[in-house]
This record gives sequence, C-alpha cells and structure tokens, in this order.
Amino acid sequence: MITVPRHKYALGTMFGVRMQHSALAIWVLEAVLNSVEPASIIEIGTDNGGLTVWLGAWAHFNDAQVLSIDCKDKVGEDTKEKLKCLPVFLETGNVFDEDHKTLIANWLQQDRLPALLYCDGSEKFKEMFMFTDYARKGSVIGCHDYINQVDPKKADAMMADAGFVKIVRDQQMRDLACMQMFWVRT
Ligand SMILES: C[S@@+](CC[C@H](N)C(=O)[O-])C[C@H]1O[C@@H](n2cnc3c(N)ncnc32)[C@H](O)[C@@H]1O
Repeated sequence: MITVPRHKYALGTMFGVRMQHSALAIWVLEAVLNSVEPASIIEIGTDNGGLTVWLGAWAHFNDAQVLSIDCKDKVGEDTKEKLKCLPVFLETGNVFDEDHKTLIANWLQQDRLPALLYCDGSEKFKEMFMFTDYARKGSVIGCHDYINQVDPKKADAMMADAGFVKIVRDQQMRDLACMQMFWVRT
C-alpha cells in the first residue's frame, strides 16, 4: 500500500505543486469557468501556485489569461519556469495597495471580457467588495474558503446591492462540501 504523507493529504497538490483546494472545489471551479468562459482570470492569493498551475492550464486550453497575485513570493523557481509555458502572469504585492488595486481593476476592464476575479487571500470579504465597481456585465467575482470571514447572507445582500446575482446555489455547494461562492454582474 502507498502511504500518503499527512501534509500532502491535508494540503493537496496539483501536478505536484502544493495547492489549497480540494478535488471537489476544483470540479466546481471548472464548471463555473466552462460556463462563464472568462478571457481573464485574476487569482488573489497565489501561495505555492498549485491552483495557478491549474488555472493556467485551463486558460491555455480556452484562450484566456491568468493574473495571480500574492504579497509573498512562495512559488518555487522550478514552478515559475514551467509557468512560462502557460498564459500566466505572476505578481508579488499587496492587493490593498494602490498600484495592485489599479492592476486588478485594469484586468477587470480589459477589452477581452468577461473576467473572473477569484478571491483567495486572507481578507476575502474586503477583496470582493473592493472590486465590485470595476466588474463589467457578465464578469464574475467569487471567493474560496470564506468560512469565518464572510457571512454568506450578508455577502449575498451586499453583492445584490452592487448589481450581482449568485450563480451557484448554496445547497449545491453544501452538498459538494465546497467552500466557494460566485456572483455574476448583471
Ligand atoms: C489560502 S492562500 C492561497 C491558496 C491558493 N490560492 C491555492 O489554492 O493554493 C492565501 C494567500 O493569500 C496571500 N495574501 C494574504 N493577504 C494578501 C494581500 N493583502 N495581498 C496579496 N496576497 C495576500 C497569502 O500570502 C497567502 O499565500
């Protein structure tokens, strides 16, 4: 029998790169991406880059591009080198500083739309609401692992006020044990 080291099981990997997403969360994310067909994907919170690798592969097959931002540079040199084969732009910086806020706002307003902003940093609520004004019609804002950070009912109300509609039902997410929420700009 193969023994999977506890840390690998707990965190998971994508193609061997550490990733903080479960297989089910990836499955839901793919369903959302396939349905939204974003031309631009922005990931807040690269960490070791496992999800970025997967987003990059999705983008490669679907003529999209990925911007992934983290305030700490934790992506291994080997992974960075391999990511050069994919339409991925890595950026190190704090999403709450003006320069990075502008960078993300520009990605949300490019000519090729829709865009999908995926908030997976450490202040998801703040990350989502900082960018609602920049998302254009058809673009999506989502977040992952929001538990203890975002009250889903409060988030729904605030997103509705900002002109967004939830695109995956809460019950479906609970059935799949996935801690994700997605809203589309109407
Ligand atoms: C949960 S991890 C991201 C996991 C990654 N998306 C994955 O699935 O493997 C959160 C990351 O957000 C980064 N982060 C936290 N606050 C940030 C900020 N203000 N700006 C940019 N990155 C931030 C942290 O350094 C950390 O690497």
